[in-house]
Amino acid sequence: MYTAIQHLHSYWAYLVLLIVVLATFNAIVKLVGKKPFGAHDFRISLFALIVMHLQLLIGLVLYFSSPYFSAFSEQGMGEVMGNDTLRLYLIEHPTTMILAIVFITIGYSKHKKKLSSNKKFKTLSIFYSIALLLLLSRIPWQAWF
Ligand code: HEM
Repeated sequence: MYTAIQHLHSYWAYLVLLIVVLATFNAIVKLVGKKPFGAHDFRISLFALIVMHLQLLIGLVLYFSSPYFSAFSEQGMGEVMGNDTLRLYLIEHPTTMILAIVFITIGYSKHKKKLSSNKKFKTLSIFYSIALLLLLSRIPWQAWF
């Protein structure tokens, strides 16, 4: 079970990164180009929200089924915070990814309330860019590649 979830989380991460990059650059390019907001823009922004939320669910199952999790009880918080790998997987990665999911969710729901194309793209550009930077900052690149 753990290995299957870990592989799913690892492969789904490629889709997450691809869709969030596409949705972010789509919003920035169309904002700068003063383009009208259309069905395609709505769909790519919604798809980014969906893949992120699914990765959150997969991540939560992985978090509690991962052998890393037992470090809390076996080694204690001090050891976890002092160990780079444990701190990344148990603290930094989950909290930063959840924060990125919060920014995508706020950005998506805020853009829907905007009436003009310019304001929709501006909202998506700001919130999705922050989320993308958070994603890039705490993905375990070494383990992933
Ligand atoms: C939403 C964006 C997320 C992305 C793009 C992402 C991406 C990744 C990647 C690429 C890895 C390394 C996989 C490998 O070793 O091949 C990983 C590992 C991990 N992720 Fe995430 N993750 C996300 C969210 C989360 C969340 C929300 C949690 C927990 C609440 C989480 C928990 C973990 C854990 C525990 C590992 C290490 C698992 C292990 O090797 O035992 N992730 N993640």
